[in-house]
Amino acid sequence: MKAIIPAAGLGTRFLPATKCTPKEMLPVLNKPVIQYVAEEALAPEEVDGVVIVTSPGKPELLSFFQPDRSLETLLRERGKEAYADAVAEAGSMPVDFRYQYEPRGLGHAIRSAADACASEPFLVLLGDYVVPSKSILPKMIEVSEAHSGASVIAVAPCSPEEVSRYGVIGGTRIGALPGCEDVADTEPGAVWRVSGTVEKPAPEDAPSNLYIVGRYLLSPRVMDLLQTQEPGAGGEVQLTDALERSLDQEVMYAVVIDPLEGLDTGTPSGWIAANALMAAEDPELAPAFWEAVDARGGLKRPEAE
Ligand code: G1P
Repeated sequence: MKAIIPAAGLGTRFLPATKCTPKEMLPVLNKPVIQYVAEEALAPEEVDGVVIVTSPGKPELLSFFQPDRSLETLLRERGKEAYADAVAEAGSMPVDFRYQYEPRGLGHAIRSAADACASEPFLVLLGDYVVPSKSILPKMIEVSEAHSGASVIAVAPCSPEEVSRYGVIGGTRIGALPGCEDVADTEPGAVWRVSGTVEKPAPEDAPSNLYIVGRYLLSPRVMDLLQTQEPGAGGEVQLTDALERSLDQEVMYAVVIDPLEGLDTGTPSGWIAANALMAAEDPELAPAFWEAVDARGGLKRPEAE
């Protein structure tokens, strides 16, 4: 099974940093965001490769996943084995690329990778959301396996005002992950059968307050439907619209996750928080991080004016 990571966006929210650096290459600690997402995608044994869909204007992404023997050799000659290993690791991941030549939406980006998926189920991981614990995909795979390989999407509860920022599902809770039988319908571990999906609904039109968080395990039928998907919300080809159409032909499930399992690195504030939270717990970086914070009297929230 392949995992598709769409990475063709302009990174507008991070300008000017993203004027010359793709937003996927911004570091969280010492690794670019895209490496965390690729590692998460490759963790389940069912996944044998990642396909990054990017635009021709981002050659840095291709370079990053290519081997760099001369840098590696230089580092080894200088005894910097750990750095050499890190360079080798990034260059040896099973990552392939496809181009999206025009910014026509998430659904369009995904269908640009159709030929790489060989009519098999596939994963989609939206790259702004980093899951260091890699805890979400295994739950989705478990639910899919329990339901004859059906499509499964990860969802999480949000406030009614927030639904218009996301894809939202309608449906019925039908069960739970093992060990989560007692959770409420919108708590982590609950499993839903999906009856509808809507992209960026007005609050009064939202079928629930469960939004799609950006992790999808999809059937080949969804990829087929994307090929004929007309533009929807925002004039873009929406994956959510193809999911809705697939429900006429097959069942789909959703598993409720805790959105705090991951970190949203798609905005400057989210990215900064991701760096701080991960640095605070990183075995190598935490001592120097806390020293720098403590030297300034600790982190305090300024008084509101
Ligand atoms: C995309 C999807 C949306 C999903 C969201 C998660 O929206 O279209 O269904 O809920 O990602 O982050 P975007 O953030 O690209 O507007």
